[in-house]
Amino acid sequence: MDAYVLEWVNLLLRWAHVITAIAWIGSSFYFVLLDNSLTQPAEQDLKDKGIDGELWAVHGGGFYHANKYMVAPRWKPLPENLHWSYWESYSTWLTGFALFTVLYLFNAGSFLVDKSVYDWSAGAAIAAALGFLAAFWLIYDLICRTLGQRKNGDLVVGALVFVFVIVASWLACQLFAGRAAFLLVGAMLATAMSANVFFWIIPGQRKVVAQLRAGQTPDAIHGMRGKQRSVHNTYFTLPVIVAMLSTHYGWLTQGSHNWLVLVLLMLAGALIRHSFVARHKAHVQHRRTPWEHAVVGTLVLVGVAVWLAPKPPSAEEQAAAKAAAARPAGYAEVRAVLDQRCVMCHNEQLQQKNVMLNSAALVKQHAQAVYQQAAVLKLMPLNNATQITDAERELIKRWYEAGAPVPMGSGL
Ligand code: HEC
Repeated sequence: MDAYVLEWVNLLLRWAHVITAIAWIGSSFYFVLLDNSLTQPAEQDLKDKGIDGELWAVHGGGFYHANKYMVAPRWKPLPENLHWSYWESYSTWLTGFALFTVLYLFNAGSFLVDKSVYDWSAGAAIAAALGFLAAFWLIYDLICRTLGQRKNGDLVVGALVFVFVIVASWLACQLFAGRAAFLLVGAMLATAMSANVFFWIIPGQRKVVAQLRAGQTPDAIHGMRGKQRSVHNTYFTLPVIVAMLSTHYGWLTQGSHNWLVLVLLMLAGALIRHSFVARHKAHVQHRRTPWEHAVVGTLVLVGVAVWLAPKPPSAEEQAAAKAAAARPAGYAEVRAVLDQRCVMCHNEQLQQKNVMLNSAALVKQHAQAVYQQAAVLKLMPLNNATQITDAERELIKRWYEAGAPVPMGSGL
């Protein structure tokens, strides 16, 4: 029952997380497009009002005419009804952290820890995972604060943050189960994104609004700082999403150089995002879109695909597989494998994902999922906690393909 309730919590949190993330990233992408598509206002009265950029757009049965005042409007007080964007970001982080807790921290022993990667206790792994999120933010923030305002600050900060993300990805993959490491690196960047909003962008905007309402000239530094963090956020977006989605693909997260796979996936995301950011600017300036970044990003993905392609089996392996295939795989053999490799996490007491495998009837019921998880996707046993062999996976495969026979009427 507890497992069942947890499944619902998992589903509902995941749903909420995706909805809030769409709302956040949707408005974030929209404002990046808006900012990069602004042109000098055409009409004198707009210039007289101090408008620095305008954009005409057609949508939803009408035309929009957006105006941007750099720093703030000078010609009249701010209206009471000012739209802010921050809850999308905070609620994405809150639902994401809750989901991470339900999924990874509650079951840290099987989700965070892979003893073949690093042998430590669940408690230590939880502390390290939380420390990871906090440490990345503190160091990233320090880099931005100390180097961001200097000459070529954006470039230096960008390069340092890039190197720092590589180091963090490498470290995460040395400490945590592959799947958890990928998620943690995504969560680490996403935490920095939300923290950018919470600690810099919104407080800066609040100060500007307060100064304006007090009749003072607002300090431009707040806008500049906020803009720097917003730019980082836009480049983090696609890497974060690919890091989180990749946790559903064991062949990405489980290899021995998984940290490099993660870095390359995220690099491809940032490069592709750059082409889109630059495209808006190029569009209004009547220049060619710099698609080459997206092309390089796509080639990186193709490179990863080729690199990770399964190697064709050697002559020896082929012969062994042929010999094995000739033998029938009966339930008794499969039962022995399940008992040894699966039942510890799939039984009456512990029903991971509501799957129990401790009787013939249950095995029959879950045969397709067992085949998928253990023989095709190779996601189970989780983090190969029970050291299943390739021959045993092959056995499950042959048993399933022969119609998944189980002895009828028997308990076990
Ligand atoms: C160390 C504990 C552990 C072991 C051992 C283990 N599993 Fe799992 N299993 C889990 C967990 C945890 C989940 C839930 C995974 C998730 O939510 O992504 C799961 C989920 C599943 C699912 C459901 C997958 C889905 O997404 O619906 C199946 C089927 C499954 N396991 C089969 C197996 C089989 C077959 C074996 C043995 C070859 C096995 N498991 C061994 C922990 C384990």
